[in-house]
Amino acid sequence: MRVKVFAPGRVNLIGEHTDYNEGFVLPFVTEMGITMEASLRSDGLIKARALDLGEEVSFPLAELIPAGGGKNWWDYPAGVCWALMEEGCRLKGADIAFGGDIPVGSGLSSSAALEVATAAAMNYLNGLNLDPKKLALLCQKAENSYVGVQSGIMDQFASMLSRPGRALFIDCRSLEYAHIPLNLSGQELAVIDSRIKRSLAASEYNRRRAECAEALALIGGQLGENRASLRDISIEEIEAARPNLPEALYRRSRFVVEENRRVLEAVEAFRAGDLTLAGQLMNASHAGLRDLYQVSCLELDLLAETAWASPGVWGARMTGAGFGGCVIALVEKEHLPELKRRVLEKTGGELAAEPRFYTTRPAGGALVEQGG
Ligand code: GLA
Repeated sequence: MRVKVFAPGRVNLIGEHTDYNEGFVLPFVTEMGITMEASLRSDGLIKARALDLGEEVSFPLAELIPAGGGKNWWDYPAGVCWALMEEGCRLKGADIAFGGDIPVGSGLSSSAALEVATAAAMNYLNGLNLDPKKLALLCQKAENSYVGVQSGIMDQFASMLSRPGRALFIDCRSLEYAHIPLNLSGQELAVIDSRIKRSLAASEYNRRRAECAEALALIGGQLGENRASLRDISIEEIEAARPNLPEALYRRSRFVVEENRRVLEAVEAFRAGDLTLAGQLMNASHAGLRDLYQVSCLELDLLAETAWASPGVWGARMTGAGFGGCVIALVEKEHLPELKRRVLEKTGGELAAEPRFYTTRPAGGALVEQGG
Protein backbone atom coordinates (compact mmCIF):
# COMPACT_ATOMS: atom_id res chain seq x y z
CA MET A 1 0.00 0.00 0.00
CA ARG A 2 1.36 3.43 -1.00
CA VAL A 3 0.19 7.01 -0.75
CA LYS A 4 1.22 10.49 -1.85
CA VAL A 5 -0.03 13.44 0.21
CA PHE A 6 0.40 17.19 0.17
CA ALA A 7 0.11 19.52 3.18
CA PRO A 8 0.43 23.31 2.84
CA GLY A 9 2.19 25.94 4.95
CA ARG A 10 0.12 28.68 6.57
CA VAL A 11 0.10 32.45 6.71
CA ASN A 12 -1.93 34.15 9.37
CA LEU A 13 -3.96 37.11 8.16
CA ILE A 14 -4.84 38.22 11.66
CA GLY A 15 -5.35 36.76 15.14
CA GLU A 16 -1.87 36.22 16.56
CA HIS A 17 -1.21 34.47 19.86
CA THR A 18 -4.94 34.17 20.39
CA ASP A 19 -5.33 30.47 19.58
CA TYR A 20 -3.93 29.20 22.88
CA ASN A 21 -6.12 31.73 24.68
CA GLU A 22 -9.29 30.12 23.31
CA GLY A 23 -9.67 33.06 20.96
CA PHE A 24 -10.19 33.70 17.24
CA VAL A 25 -7.80 33.40 14.31
CA LEU A 26 -7.98 33.97 10.56
CA PRO A 27 -5.19 32.14 8.71
CA PHE A 28 -5.01 30.88 5.15
CA VAL A 29 -2.66 28.38 3.56
CA THR A 30 -0.09 28.82 0.82
CA GLU A 31 0.53 27.05 -2.43
CA MET A 32 3.87 26.12 -0.88
CA GLY A 33 3.85 22.91 1.09
CA ILE A 34 5.23 19.49 1.82
CA THR A 35 4.76 16.49 -0.44
CA MET A 36 5.20 13.12 1.18
CA GLU A 37 5.27 9.65 -0.32
CA ALA A 38 4.79 6.76 2.03
CA SER A 39 4.42 2.99 1.85
CA LEU A 40 3.83 0.30 4.45
CA ARG A 41 6.57 -1.85 5.97
CA SER A 42 5.99 -5.05 7.86
CA ASP A 43 8.71 -4.71 10.52
CA GLY A 44 7.26 -1.94 12.74
CA LEU A 45 9.97 0.52 11.72
CA ILE A 46 9.49 4.05 10.43
CA LYS A 47 12.18 4.93 7.93
CA ALA A 48 11.93 8.65 7.29
CA ARG A 49 13.82 10.52 4.59
CA ALA A 50 14.06 14.31 4.33
CA LEU A 51 14.82 14.65 0.63
CA ASP A 52 15.83 18.32 0.78
CA LEU A 53 18.38 17.61 3.50
CA GLY A 54 19.54 14.26 2.16
CA GLU A 55 19.03 12.74 5.61
CA GLU A 56 17.44 9.48 6.67
CA VAL A 57 16.45 8.26 10.12
CA SER A 58 14.86 5.00 11.32
CA PHE A 59 12.98 4.38 14.52
CA PRO A 60 10.88 1.49 15.84
CA LEU A 61 7.28 2.54 16.50
CA ALA A 62 7.31 0.50 19.71
CA GLU A 63 10.06 2.66 21.21
CA LEU A 64 8.69 6.16 20.74
CA ILE A 65 8.91 8.17 23.93
CA PRO A 66 8.25 11.93 24.14
CA ALA A 67 11.63 13.52 24.71
CA GLY A 68 10.34 17.09 24.94
CA GLY A 69 12.81 19.75 23.94
CA GLY A 70 14.10 17.80 20.93
CA LYS A 71 13.44 19.69 17.72
CA ASN A 72 14.96 17.58 15.01
CA TRP A 73 12.93 17.22 11.83
CA TRP A 74 12.21 13.56 12.60
CA ASP A 75 10.62 14.50 15.93
CA TYR A 76 7.59 15.75 13.97
CA PRO A 77 6.75 12.53 12.09
CA ALA A 78 7.74 10.51 15.17
CA GLY A 79 5.52 12.68 17.38
CA VAL A 80 2.54 12.20 15.07
CA CYS A 81 2.98 8.41 15.13
CA TRP A 82 3.26 8.56 18.91
CA ALA A 83 0.09 10.68 19.20
CA LEU A 84 -1.84 8.31 16.92
CA MET A 85 -0.77 5.32 19.02
CA GLU A 86 -1.66 7.16 22.23
CA GLU A 87 -5.10 7.52 20.72
CA GLY A 88 -5.28 3.73 20.47
CA CYS A 89 -4.50 3.45 16.75
CA ARG A 90 -2.54 0.37 15.71
CA LEU A 91 0.13 1.48 13.29
CA LYS A 92 2.24 -0.53 10.90
CA GLY A 93 5.73 0.60 9.99
CA ALA A 94 6.29 2.77 6.94
CA ASP A 95 8.86 4.22 4.60
CA ILE A 96 8.22 7.93 4.32
CA ALA A 97 10.02 10.44 2.14
CA PHE A 98 9.18 14.11 1.94
CA GLY A 99 10.33 17.36 0.44
CA GLY A 100 8.89 20.80 -0.01
CA ASP A 101 9.23 24.48 -0.70
CA ILE A 102 8.12 26.15 2.55
CA PRO A 103 11.04 28.17 3.90
CA VAL A 104 11.96 26.50 7.19
CA GLY A 105 12.00 28.58 10.37
CA SER A 106 10.24 31.52 8.70
CA GLY A 107 6.99 31.34 10.62
CA LEU A 108 5.11 29.69 7.74
CA SER A 109 4.50 26.47 9.66
CA SER A 110 6.69 24.04 7.80
CA SER A 111 6.60 21.93 10.95
CA ALA A 112 2.79 21.83 11.09
CA ALA A 113 2.77 20.89 7.39
CA LEU A 114 5.15 18.01 8.12
CA GLU A 115 2.93 16.84 10.98
CA VAL A 116 -0.21 17.10 8.88
CA ALA A 117 1.37 15.29 5.93
CA THR A 118 2.48 12.47 8.24
CA ALA A 119 -0.95 12.25 9.86
CA ALA A 120 -2.72 12.14 6.48
CA ALA A 121 -0.31 9.48 5.17
CA MET A 122 -0.53 7.25 8.26
CA ASN A 123 -4.32 7.66 8.37
CA TYR A 124 -4.55 6.43 4.80
CA LEU A 125 -1.99 3.62 4.99
CA ASN A 126 -3.39 2.18 8.21
CA GLY A 127 -7.04 2.63 7.22
CA LEU A 128 -7.70 4.64 10.39
CA ASN A 129 -10.57 6.73 9.00
CA LEU A 130 -9.97 9.55 11.45
CA ASP A 131 -11.63 12.79 10.41
CA PRO A 132 -9.43 15.77 9.48
CA LYS A 133 -10.30 17.72 12.61
CA LYS A 134 -9.25 14.82 14.84
CA LEU A 135 -6.05 14.39 12.86
CA ALA A 136 -5.24 18.10 13.28
CA LEU A 137 -5.76 17.82 17.04
CA LEU A 138 -3.44 14.83 17.19
CA CYS A 139 -0.80 16.82 15.28
CA GLN A 140 -1.08 19.53 17.91
CA LYS A 141 -0.69 16.91 20.62
CA ALA A 142 2.46 15.68 18.88
CA GLU A 143 3.88 19.20 18.91
CA ASN A 144 2.86 19.94 22.51
CA SER A 145 3.71 16.66 24.18
CA TYR A 146 6.32 15.05 21.96
CA VAL A 147 8.26 17.97 20.48
CA GLY A 148 7.67 20.15 23.53
CA VAL A 149 6.38 23.40 21.99
CA GLN A 150 3.11 24.54 23.55
CA SER A 151 1.61 25.73 20.25
CA GLY A 152 -2.10 26.35 19.75
CA ILE A 153 -4.29 24.70 17.13
CA MET A 154 -4.16 27.33 14.36
CA ASP A 155 -1.40 25.94 12.14
CA GLN A 156 -2.49 22.31 12.10
CA PHE A 157 -6.14 23.25 11.58
CA ALA A 158 -5.25 25.58 8.73
CA SER A 159 -2.99 23.06 7.00
CA MET A 160 -5.64 20.36 7.30
CA LEU A 161 -8.94 22.19 6.73
CA SER A 162 -8.44 25.22 4.46
CA ARG A 163 -10.17 25.74 1.13
CA PRO A 164 -8.86 27.52 -1.99
CA GLY A 165 -9.62 31.24 -2.18
CA ARG A 166 -10.70 31.38 1.46
CA ALA A 167 -9.25 32.13 4.83
CA LEU A 168 -10.12 29.84 7.73
CA PHE A 169 -11.88 31.53 10.61
CA ILE A 170 -11.43 29.37 13.72
CA ASP A 171 -13.05 29.71 17.10
CA CYS A 172 -10.27 28.08 19.09
CA ARG A 173 -12.56 27.37 22.04
CA SER A 174 -15.38 25.50 20.32
CA LEU A 175 -13.11 24.45 17.41
CA GLU A 176 -15.86 25.47 15.03
CA TYR A 177 -14.61 26.99 11.83
CA ALA A 178 -15.83 28.75 8.71
CA HIS A 179 -14.30 29.36 5.29
CA ILE A 180 -14.25 33.09 4.61
CA PRO A 181 -14.10 34.25 0.98
CA LEU A 182 -11.36 36.85 0.55
CA ASN A 183 -12.53 38.33 -2.76
CA LEU A 184 -9.08 39.61 -3.67
CA SER A 185 -9.09 39.95 -7.43
CA GLY A 186 -6.98 43.07 -7.83
CA GLN A 187 -4.75 42.52 -4.81
CA GLU A 188 -1.86 40.32 -3.79
CA LEU A 189 -1.04 38.81 -0.45
CA ALA A 190 2.69 39.43 -0.36
CA VAL A 191 4.70 37.46 2.16
CA ILE A 192 8.02 39.11 2.90
CA ASP A 193 10.52 36.87 4.67
CA SER A 194 12.92 38.85 6.84
CA ARG A 195 15.15 35.75 6.96
CA ILE A 196 15.74 36.49 10.61
CA LYS A 197 15.56 33.35 12.74
CA ARG A 198 15.82 33.72 16.46
CA SER A 199 16.66 30.76 18.60
CA LEU A 200 14.76 32.22 21.53
CA ALA A 201 11.47 31.93 19.62
CA ALA A 202 10.40 28.64 21.25
CA SER A 203 11.29 29.65 24.80
CA GLU A 204 9.70 33.10 24.44
CA TYR A 205 6.64 31.49 22.93
CA ASN A 206 6.20 29.19 25.90
CA ARG A 207 6.82 32.15 28.19
CA ARG A 208 4.05 34.21 26.56
CA ARG A 209 1.70 31.31 27.08
CA ALA A 210 2.60 31.13 30.74
CA GLU A 211 2.21 34.91 31.10
CA CYS A 212 -1.29 34.75 29.68
CA ALA A 213 -2.24 32.04 32.18
CA GLU A 214 -0.78 34.11 35.00
CA ALA A 215 -2.58 37.27 33.87
CA LEU A 216 -5.84 35.36 33.68
CA ALA A 217 -5.42 34.01 37.22
CA LEU A 218 -4.55 37.44 38.63
CA ILE A 219 -7.40 39.26 36.90
CA GLY A 220 -9.84 36.50 37.84
CA GLY A 221 -8.62 36.73 41.43
CA GLN A 222 -9.37 40.41 41.54
CA LEU A 223 -12.77 39.96 40.00
CA GLY A 224 -13.46 37.35 42.65
CA GLU A 225 -14.41 34.75 40.04
CA ASN A 226 -12.55 32.40 37.75
CA ARG A 227 -12.78 33.01 34.03
CA ALA A 228 -11.95 30.25 31.58
CA SER A 229 -9.66 32.32 29.36
CA LEU A 230 -8.62 35.86 28.47
CA ARG A 231 -11.41 35.78 25.94
CA ASP A 232 -13.87 36.07 28.84
CA ILE A 233 -12.34 39.28 30.14
CA SER A 234 -13.20 42.77 28.97
CA ILE A 235 -10.86 45.72 28.42
CA GLU A 236 -12.64 47.50 31.29
CA GLU A 237 -11.90 44.60 33.63
CA ILE A 238 -8.24 44.61 32.63
CA GLU A 239 -8.08 48.35 33.25
CA ALA A 240 -9.71 47.92 36.66
CA ALA A 241 -7.16 45.24 37.56
CA ARG A 242 -4.23 47.19 36.19
CA PRO A 243 -2.92 48.67 39.47
CA ASN A 244 -2.27 45.17 40.75
CA LEU A 245 -0.98 43.67 37.53
CA PRO A 246 2.70 43.53 36.61
CA GLU A 247 3.15 45.74 33.52
CA ALA A 248 4.08 42.81 31.24
CA LEU A 249 0.92 40.93 32.18
CA TYR A 250 -1.21 44.01 31.66
CA ARG A 251 0.20 44.35 28.15
CA ARG A 252 -0.20 40.68 27.25
CA SER A 253 -3.81 40.50 28.34
CA ARG A 254 -4.77 43.78 26.72
CA PHE A 255 -3.28 42.64 23.44
CA VAL A 256 -5.14 39.32 23.45
CA VAL A 257 -8.50 40.92 24.17
CA GLU A 258 -7.99 43.58 21.49
CA GLU A 259 -6.71 41.08 18.94
CA ASN A 260 -9.76 38.86 19.38
CA ARG A 261 -11.98 41.80 18.65
CA ARG A 262 -9.91 42.70 15.59
CA VAL A 263 -10.31 39.19 14.15
CA LEU A 264 -14.10 39.38 14.39
CA GLU A 265 -14.07 42.78 12.73
CA ALA A 266 -11.66 41.57 10.03
CA VAL A 267 -13.94 38.65 9.15
CA GLU A 268 -16.76 41.12 8.54
CA ALA A 269 -14.48 43.52 6.67
CA PHE A 270 -13.22 40.81 4.28
CA ARG A 271 -16.75 39.52 3.77
CA ALA A 272 -17.90 43.03 2.88
CA GLY A 273 -14.85 43.72 0.71
CA ASP A 274 -13.90 46.63 2.99
CA LEU A 275 -10.13 46.53 2.47
CA THR A 276 -9.61 49.87 4.16
CA LEU A 277 -10.90 48.48 7.43
CA ALA A 278 -9.20 45.09 6.95
CA GLY A 279 -5.89 46.88 6.37
CA GLN A 280 -6.29 49.12 9.40
CA LEU A 281 -6.94 46.08 11.55
CA MET A 282 -3.80 44.39 10.21
CA ASN A 283 -1.73 47.47 11.02
CA ALA A 284 -3.18 47.72 14.51
CA SER A 285 -2.43 44.04 15.05
CA HIS A 286 1.22 44.64 14.20
CA ALA A 287 1.43 47.61 16.55
CA GLY A 288 -0.04 45.50 19.36
CA LEU A 289 2.39 42.65 18.73
CA ARG A 290 5.22 45.16 18.82
CA ASP A 291 4.20 47.22 21.85
CA LEU A 292 1.99 45.03 23.99
CA TYR A 293 2.79 41.42 23.23
CA GLN A 294 6.42 42.29 22.47
CA VAL A 295 7.14 39.55 19.98
CA SER A 296 8.23 41.66 17.03
CA CYS A 297 11.80 42.70 16.26
CA LEU A 298 13.52 45.60 14.50
CA GLU A 299 13.55 43.91 11.11
CA LEU A 300 9.85 42.99 11.19
CA ASP A 301 8.97 46.50 12.32
CA LEU A 302 11.01 47.96 9.50
CA LEU A 303 9.36 45.72 6.91
CA ALA A 304 5.88 46.58 8.22
CA GLU A 305 6.66 50.33 8.29
CA THR A 306 8.12 50.18 4.79
CA ALA A 307 4.94 48.51 3.58
CA TRP A 308 2.70 51.01 5.40
CA ALA A 309 4.45 53.88 3.60
CA SER A 310 4.35 52.22 0.19
CA PRO A 311 1.58 53.14 -2.29
CA GLY A 312 -1.26 50.70 -2.82
CA VAL A 313 -0.72 48.83 0.46
CA TRP A 314 -3.93 48.34 2.44
CA GLY A 315 -2.27 46.87 5.50
CA ALA A 316 0.75 44.92 6.71
CA ARG A 317 1.75 43.02 9.81
CA MET A 318 4.13 40.41 11.10
CA THR A 319 2.66 36.93 10.82
CA GLY A 320 3.30 33.88 12.97
CA ALA A 321 4.85 33.61 16.40
CA GLY A 322 7.32 36.48 15.88
CA PHE A 323 10.97 37.15 16.76
CA GLY A 324 11.75 36.95 13.06
CA GLY A 325 10.00 35.28 10.17
CA CYS A 326 7.63 37.04 7.81
CA VAL A 327 5.52 40.12 7.29
CA ILE A 328 2.34 39.88 5.22
CA ALA A 329 1.16 42.83 3.14
CA LEU A 330 -2.16 43.24 1.38
CA VAL A 331 -1.21 45.22 -1.69
CA GLU A 332 -2.74 46.27 -5.00
CA LYS A 333 -1.23 44.09 -7.74
CA GLU A 334 0.14 46.96 -9.75
CA HIS A 335 1.93 48.36 -6.70
CA LEU A 336 3.75 45.18 -5.77
CA PRO A 337 6.92 46.05 -7.74
CA GLU A 338 7.20 49.37 -5.89
CA LEU A 339 6.80 47.62 -2.54
CA LYS A 340 9.54 45.19 -3.51
CA ARG A 341 11.80 48.01 -4.61
CA ARG A 342 11.37 49.86 -1.33
CA VAL A 343 12.00 46.76 0.76
CA LEU A 344 15.06 45.69 -1.18
CA GLU A 345 16.48 49.20 -0.89
CA LYS A 346 16.89 48.58 2.84
CA THR A 347 19.06 45.50 2.32
CA GLY A 348 22.61 45.79 3.51
CA GLY A 349 21.67 48.77 5.65
CA GLU A 350 18.99 48.16 8.25
CA LEU A 351 18.34 44.66 6.94
CA ALA A 352 21.35 42.40 7.04
CA ALA A 353 19.92 39.68 4.80
CA GLU A 354 18.01 40.39 1.61
CA PRO A 355 14.33 39.70 2.32
CA ARG A 356 12.57 37.15 0.12
CA PHE A 357 9.20 37.80 -1.46
CA TYR A 358 6.47 35.25 -1.98
CA THR A 359 3.07 35.97 -3.41
CA THR A 360 0.49 33.35 -2.83
CA ARG A 361 -3.17 32.72 -3.42
CA PRO A 362 -5.07 31.25 -0.48
CA ALA A 363 -4.82 27.53 -1.26
CA GLY A 364 -6.50 24.32 -0.11
CA GLY A 365 -5.71 22.09 2.88
CA ALA A 366 -4.07 18.66 3.01
CA LEU A 367 -4.80 16.32 0.18
CA VAL A 368 -4.28 12.66 -0.63
CA GLU A 369 -3.01 13.02 -4.19
CA GLN A 370 -2.61 9.34 -5.02
CA GLY A 371 -3.18 6.16 -3.14
CA GLY A 372 -3.42 2.47 -3.73
C1 GLA B 1 2.79 29.59 16.21
C2 GLA B 1 1.90 28.54 16.85
C3 GLA B 1 0.43 28.87 16.66
C4 GLA B 1 0.12 30.30 17.09
C5 GLA B 1 1.11 31.29 16.49
C6 GLA B 1 0.96 32.68 17.03
O1 GLA B 1 2.65 29.55 14.83
O2 GLA B 1 2.18 27.26 16.31
O3 GLA B 1 -0.36 27.95 17.39
O4 GLA B 1 0.07 30.43 18.48
O5 GLA B 1 2.46 30.89 16.69
O6 GLA B 1 -0.25 33.22 16.65
